[in-house]
Amino acid sequence: MPLPDRWIVLKFGGTSVSRRERWDTIGRLARERAEDGAARVLVVVSALSGVTNELQAIADGGAIGDRVDALIERHRAFSVELGLEPGSVLGERTTVLRALANDARAATRALDWQAEVLAQGELLSSTLGAAYLRAQGLDFGWCDAREWLDAIALPNQNAWSTRLSVSCRHESDAAWRARFARQPARMLLTQGFIARHGDGGTAILGRGGSDTSAAYFGALLGAQRVEIWTDVPGMFSANPRIVPEARLLARLDYAEAQEIATTGARVLHPRSIAPCRDGNVPMAILDTARPDLAGTRIDASATTVPGVKAISRRNGIVLVSMESIGMWQQVGFLADIFERFKRHGLSVDLIGSSETNVTVSLDPSENLVTGNVLEALAADLAEVCRVKVIAPCAAITLVGRGMRSLLHRLSDIWAAFGRERVHLISQSSNDLNLTFVIDEADADGLLPQLHAELVHSGAMPMHDASVFGPSWHEITHGRAQRGPAWWRGRREALLQAAARGTPRYVYDLATLRARARALAAIDTIDRRFYALKANPHPTILRALEAEGFGFECVSSGELAHLFATLPGLEPERVLFTPSFAPRREYEEAFARGATVTVDNIEALQRWPDVFEGRGLWLRLDLGRGEGHHAKVRTGGSQAKFGLPLPRLDAFVAQARALDARIAGLHAHLGSGVELPSHWREVYAELAAHADRIGTVATIDIGGGLPVPYLPDAAPLDLEAWARGLAEVKALYPQYALAVEPGRFLVAECGVLLLHVTQVVEKDGMRRVGCDAGMNALLRPALYDAFHAIANLSRPGGDTAQGDGVLAFDVVGPVCESGDVLGRQRLLPAATSEGDVLLVADAGAYGMAMANTYNLRALPAEDVIE
Ligand code: LLP
Repeated sequence: MPLPDRWIVLKFGGTSVSRRERWDTIGRLARERAEDGAARVLVVVSALSGVTNELQAIADGGAIGDRVDALIERHRAFSVELGLEPGSVLGERTTVLRALANDARAATRALDWQAEVLAQGELLSSTLGAAYLRAQGLDFGWCDAREWLDAIALPNQNAWSTRLSVSCRHESDAAWRARFARQPARMLLTQGFIARHGDGGTAILGRGGSDTSAAYFGALLGAQRVEIWTDVPGMFSANPRIVPEARLLARLDYAEAQEIATTGARVLHPRSIAPCRDGNVPMAILDTARPDLAGTRIDASATTVPGVKAISRRNGIVLVSMESIGMWQQVGFLADIFERFKRHGLSVDLIGSSETNVTVSLDPSENLVTGNVLEALAADLAEVCRVKVIAPCAAITLVGRGMRSLLHRLSDIWAAFGRERVHLISQSSNDLNLTFVIDEADADGLLPQLHAELVHSGAMPMHDASVFGPSWHEITHGRAQRGPAWWRGRREALLQAAARGTPRYVYDLATLRARARALAAIDTIDRRFYALKANPHPTILRALEAEGFGFECVSSGELAHLFATLPGLEPERVLFTPSFAPRREYEEAFARGATVTVDNIEALQRWPDVFEGRGLWLRLDLGRGEGHHAKVRTGGSQAKFGLPLPRLDAFVAQARALDARIAGLHAHLGSGVELPSHWREVYAELAAHADRIGTVATIDIGGGLPVPYLPDAAPLDLEAWARGLAEVKALYPQYALAVEPGRFLVAECGVLLLHVTQVVEKDGMRRVGCDAGMNALLRPALYDAFHAIANLSRPGGDTAQGDGVLAFDVVGPVCESGDVLGRQRLLPAATSEGDVLLVADAGAYGMAMANTYNLRALPAEDVIE
């Protein structure tokens, strides 16, 4: 049987070749590809973990004899573990290693000798591995990578880099390929990291060498794909250790992968991408411990949705700021300064300039930026400009295709950086990256926040499942179970409701009660108030009263509606938390017996008689806002809510002067907060302030609990949330704890039903029009909010999967360009006039914010049991 002429290249790093069972995995994966995939397989391996460092120490000239002995011993022991006879397998290799230790060139640490020393790790590991795989009965051959990879000389290389950090020829070459294919075994094993120098000696590929070797082989072989097997599941939208919500990037193009590899992820060496791109060879990053995960695929396929794919942080960045001393704009100024960077072997990363200043960044991963080097550089630069070195800085980079078209979605990101001291901003002209350089200390804690903002603004198009895979949290803990939405089982009832007229909200009381009971089961919380601004439907108010909830109101109108709906409601169960309300509303709230929350001193000063002798709650601004969109963040100096902390003492004094007692302390910093630690932090801060005030009995940590609007979003981990609160409660048992959620209780119980009016194609864009849009549900227009949309009239129309689906923008009938309920949503291709669309998770701030703009009627409302 002739061997197939299709190759798959697999690369395994140090940890994947250092244990016997890992070699079993390598053998299994190779065999599967050879047999099931009907391909030939080339496996490229690194040295055993830690071996290259040891060889580097030998190449540096330290304790050569002892180190060589230890290395030989380590490999002998491993061959025993592999069930091999060390003498016969390793004999030749150990002879070479000992000869190198005694080589005359060792004394001068000649570069060619260093290269040969460094090459031994891969030669040893591949020799052991090939022997082991053959002993398992696999048809494996071994080849010396130096016979196949030729180093090329590049301009600007010094003696060191032409030997120890080489690039290799990788243009596909039929003769080369035919020669390679003549090797008899179906599967071959070779070394990463090493190549042939032009003089016939050994050359080293340098950092990331094994990935790059695999890529060279892939390109030379015109391989079907190059698989990089690592110990992580692939590339992520952010470092998953810092951002557990970060999502696996299922598919990237070469340029995006290159940017992500360069600016953050250490998963794949950036150098390895160009050869595969040049040869149009797809790459896959896969996890040896989780071989069934699809990992990250990198290829030339056009990505459909422009968007930010990843956000990363690099530390240790050094900024060199150069102020002109009258030479700016003079021909040769930049040449003068950059020549000095070259002189000190420093490669410049980012550049920013103004009329009088040029600032550049140095990335420590590309440079040896020691104090000495910087001092010498600064001294040289001082001849032509005034120099300031700013370090340590962090570079925070957003990567994704089409960055320019996304700028309008990045307003929250700019706002977040607006609170930091940004030294440099750089946008690449290839439209792939946007980088902010700030002080390293300021970058702490920023990434999770920025990642959440990218998701919420839609700049990171998470709903595109072809790009965004599961989150790190889901991969390690299993996918969080958000049971199927209630409406999937109620299609007939919903179609009947729609037949009575749309737009129409339908609320499911069972879902409402389930959320209410989940909160009521948390015994750390003493008092629960429903923020009825989210949805004041009378049936919902009655149901929540029956579940033991109190209510939080913001206006006299809400108070009147509440007491009209629930005439017997005890006033102690009612909070009044107004914002800039007129005096009359405070008076009315006191007259009704509600608990009134005040958030400024001016009210006490102007209306002393309203507050005299009263018990009050005080709303504090803890100096920051949180939430799904800038417009719902209610803390920090930009927000109109809350008493700023520096005025707390003055407020306490003013209240005392009026004989008013501060009985509660409140903060609500925003809505749809994704950080589970938020509430325990607010709780702890408020409790500490309460201790100082002395009269406080209740701490109210507000609402703001998130719901999973995005298809794969995980629901709030309520147990973890409650555990955090319980920890704070243990420290401050003297205070009653109150919460006042709105969205969490009602969002998922409500859907909006619409009829399709028209389906129109314009300039390649398909739009489904509905009989209501931003007039019925304002959230997408106002906050770019995401609501899932399904077609209830078509089979499969609620799954957005399978054949026969197309991407549509779902729009309303209002005369505003912002009247879009969802962009590029997958709906049945057959969607047409008269179909019923369902907009999910619309129970909170849906009907409550509906309006009659364009004189369109308000939606109808139904409640179902
Ligand atoms: N407490 C206070 C003082 C509030 O201002 C709010 C909401 C809540 C509680 C309830 O927050 P929730 O648990 O629902 O997040 N229209 C926006 C939300 C505005 C929230 C206003 N205040 C939206 O549709 O996302």
